[in-house]
Amino acid sequence: MPADVRGLPITVANEEALSTYERAVSGYLAQKPDAMDLLDEALAADPEFVMAHCLKAYMLKMAYDPAFLPAARDSVKAATKAAAGATDRERRHAAAANLMVEQRTAEALQALDGIAIDYPTDLMNLKLTQFCHFWRGDAANMRDVVGRALHAWDQDTPGYGFVLGLLSFGFEEGGDYVAAERVGREAVELNPEDSWAVHAVAHTIEMEGRHVDGIDWLKRTEPGWLENNNFRFHLWWHQSLYHLEQDEIDEVFDLYDTRIRGDKTDFATDIANGSALLWRLYLRDINVGDRWGELGERAEAHARDAANSFFNTNYMMALLATDRSEAAEILLTAMREESVRNDPISARAVDAGVAVSEGLRAYYHGDYAGAVDFMLPVRYDQYLFGGSHAQRDVFDQTLVLAAIRSGRDALARALVTERETRHRQVPAAWKAEAGMAVN
Ligand SMILES: [Fe+2]
Repeated sequence: MPADVRGLPITVANEEALSTYERAVSGYLAQKPDAMDLLDEALAADPEFVMAHCLKAYMLKMAYDPAFLPAARDSVKAATKAAAGATDRERRHAAAANLMVEQRTAEALQALDGIAIDYPTDLMNLKLTQFCHFWRGDAANMRDVVGRALHAWDQDTPGYGFVLGLLSFGFEEGGDYVAAERVGREAVELNPEDSWAVHAVAHTIEMEGRHVDGIDWLKRTEPGWLENNNFRFHLWWHQSLYHLEQDEIDEVFDLYDTRIRGDKTDFATDIANGSALLWRLYLRDINVGDRWGELGERAEAHARDAANSFFNTNYMMALLATDRSEAAEILLTAMREESVRNDPISARAVDAGVAVSEGLRAYYHGDYAGAVDFMLPVRYDQYLFGGSHAQRDVFDQTLVLAAIRSGRDALARALVTERETRHRQVPAAWKAEAGMAVN
């Protein structure tokens, strides 16, 4: 029976389909733009290629855009049919893809975690499973799904560097910044095109408040990820955060206009980069000109998606900033009615997303006390709707400023101090507004 590059048996009709699929998996790991095209090529060479159908379904689902769901369902159907005579691993992937596309996330994750235990060298599965844990805010499992697989890997196993990149991000989101940076730098040395490892180190530097180091890191590694898919926009977004904290606003706008939103794409994750950066500028009373306009239009088109609370909260920012109050109400209604409540964690995540969105709306309308009342109780539930610490920080920033501006002085002082304890900068203007010493 054919085997993949790491020796796992794989049901495939010919060598051409297999080698093309292997390139698609590497492209998936390295965020390359041609991963989906390669999958289609592999499927043209073998229309009953179970793993290619599964990866296609997973990738379509993880874009968090309901427009892709019909195609994802077609892939699941094809995978399920082809999996009938396939291996245990392939049958389990077809079942997991079905659970995922049907939004039964907890069950899907259980299935994927199980595959990772029984087939620890299934590299695509490690990447996918970590990403699914990411969107559940489960930092421990982001680290541990990789940790559990390490016994099957050594530096001679093809793709070993990618595993280190995954581990690095798991360490980072779990708060172990020393290990994250060590492992992440090792991964990038092994493979300069491992943009997930570059990203993990960028997060570590962000969390430690080392902004100059961060700019240097991303500029130095850029040749390795310049040919990425839209993930490169997110890496430039990280670079813009460093510049923002350094008050280098011209650099922020330059990155925004030429890189982060240079292409004005419609992917949820790209819109979120733009909204979250402009909202940070808005919190600092920096005029962003007409940059919100296209984001508002796109957010309005997605207002009924209710695909994920993290993206919905970012859409809310763009709707508010462009005075689309009707669309904001539609988005909130869609979130409240969201059907993805089929397990306790999903339900809590949606409730937190609704509260944060209400908080953003109250803040935008100058109801700072209302913003605090919405956002404070769900601070420690926000992680459940996924996104990274760095991405969710925009909500914390909003809450700190809402506390300051609502005159809740004790809370404002507490939140400012807490933030600084975590190495997160607080703008001098906010501290002055809170009547606190500016150093
Ligand atoms: Fe990130």
